Amino acid sequence: MAGPATTDVRAARLRRLAGGVVRTKRTRSDLAYYGGTPGFAEDIRVGTPNVPAKDRYLELVGEAIDRRWLSNLGPLVRRFEALAAERTLRAHNTATNNATTALQVAVKACGVTGEVIMPSFTFVASAHAMDWIGLTPVFADVDPETGTLDPRSVAKAVSPRTGGILGVHIWGNLCDTAGLDDVAREAGVPLVFDSAQAFGCLPLRPAPAGAAEVFSFHATKILNCFEGGLVATDSAEVHARVRSMHNFGFDETMDVVGPGTNAKMNESSAAMGIASVEHLDDMLKVYRALYTRYRTGLADVPGVSLMAAPQGQTHNHQYVVVRVDPEAAGLDRDRLMAVLDAENVRTKKYFSPGCHTMPPYRRETVHTPVDLSVTETLTERVLALPTGLSVTPDDVDRICDVIAAAVRYA
Ligand SMILES: Cc1ncc(COP(=O)(O)O)c(C=O)c1O
Repeated sequence: MAGPATTDVRAARLRRLAGGVVRTKRTRSDLAYYGGTPGFAEDIRVGTPNVPAKDRYLELVGEAIDRRWLSNLGPLVRRFEALAAERTLRAHNTATNNATTALQVAVKACGVTGEVIMPSFTFVASAHAMDWIGLTPVFADVDPETGTLDPRSVAKAVSPRTGGILGVHIWGNLCDTAGLDDVAREAGVPLVFDSAQAFGCLPLRPAPAGAAEVFSFHATKILNCFEGGLVATDSAEVHARVRSMHNFGFDETMDVVGPGTNAKMNESSAAMGIASVEHLDDMLKVYRALYTRYRTGLADVPGVSLMAAPQGQTHNHQYVVVRVDPEAAGLDRDRLMAVLDAENVRTKKYFSPGCHTMPPYRRETVHTPVDLSVTETLTERVLALPTGLSVTPDDVDRICDVIAAAVRYA
C-alpha cells in the first residue's frame, strides 16, 4: 500500500505533468470549450470588488448620516486623506470623486498645456481625461517587459508643442521614473503620473520624480471607495491649486480665486476608503500569495508567462497578467480567453485595443508620431486573470489547470 511519502511523490509527479497543478481537465473533451462541464459553476471575474470590512463601513457611514455632513470636505474625507498619505508618502493628498477628474485637476494644477506624451497602452480614461480638457494625447511606446512608458520613445516624441508627460504605472508596475524625469527636465515640461492602478506600490529607490500623481479607488481597484481618487504631490503650490480646483475654484474663505470643477470625494466614499485602508496590508498579502500561486501554477506551461513585476519596488499585484506567445503556446490570447470563458472564468484584455486605434485618437500624424510596435504586440498578447479577496488559492489552481490543458490540447 502506498504510504504518505509515496503518495506525495506521486502527487508531485502528477503536478509536474499537469504543468504545476493537479489536473482536473485530463482530456481535451473535459474542457468546456470542447463540450465538457465548466470548471466553475458561477462566474469568477477580474475586478470583483473587495469589501474587507462591511460593518466598519456601515458604522462610519451611519456616523456621517447622523451628523448630516455628507459632502464638502467632511471629517471622513479628511481622515481618509490622512490614512492615504501614509501609503503614498507624499506630503499633500487630496481625495477626489474618481481618478478621471483627478487627472484633469492634476495636469491643470501642474501647468500642462498643448500636447501630452503618454502611453497608448493604458486604460482609455488616461487619454480621455486629457482630451476632454482640450489637451492632445500623443502616444509613445512602452517597455516590453513591464508595459510602462519607455523614456527613449518619449524622447523621440518630444516636439515644440509638447506641454507635459503622463507616465502610467500600469498594473502597479512603476514606470522608469528617473528616465522619464530626465526627458521631462530636458524638454522643460511637467511630469505627472497616472497611478490609478498603483495604490499600495512604493518605489524603494529615491522619491519618485513627478509633479503629482493620481490614484483610483474605483470599485474594481485593490482599495475601493465605490468610486474615488486621490491627487498626491510633494509641492505645496501644486497642492494649493489642486485644493481649489477640485472645489469649484474656491479658496479657504470660499472666494473663487481660479478655475474649478467639482471633483470632491463624498463622505460615503471616504467611509468605504477608511474601512478598506485599515485592511490594506492584509489585502496586499492575499494578492501577493495569489500572484505567487499563479506563477508556480503556470511555470511549466509553454508560451504563457506572467508579466514581470519590476525589481526594486513593492508591488500590489492587483492585476495578474499573462502574456500569451501564440507560437510557443499553440493558441493565441483570444482563443485562451474563449477557453477560459467557457469555464466561466471571465478574464480581461487589459489593455486592448491600444488607445491610438480608438476613433478619437486614430489621426496618426497628430497622435502617433513614433513607432508603437511594442504596444501593438502587447495589446494582442496580454490577458488579466481573476485575483482579489473573492478568489481562493484553489480557484487559482483550477484556472492554471484550465490554461495548462488549453495549451496541451491546442
Ligand atoms: C490607468 C487608469 N487610469 C485612469 C483610470 C480612471 O479611474 P477612475 O475610474 O477612478 O476614473 C483607471 C481606472 O480604471 C485606470 O486604470
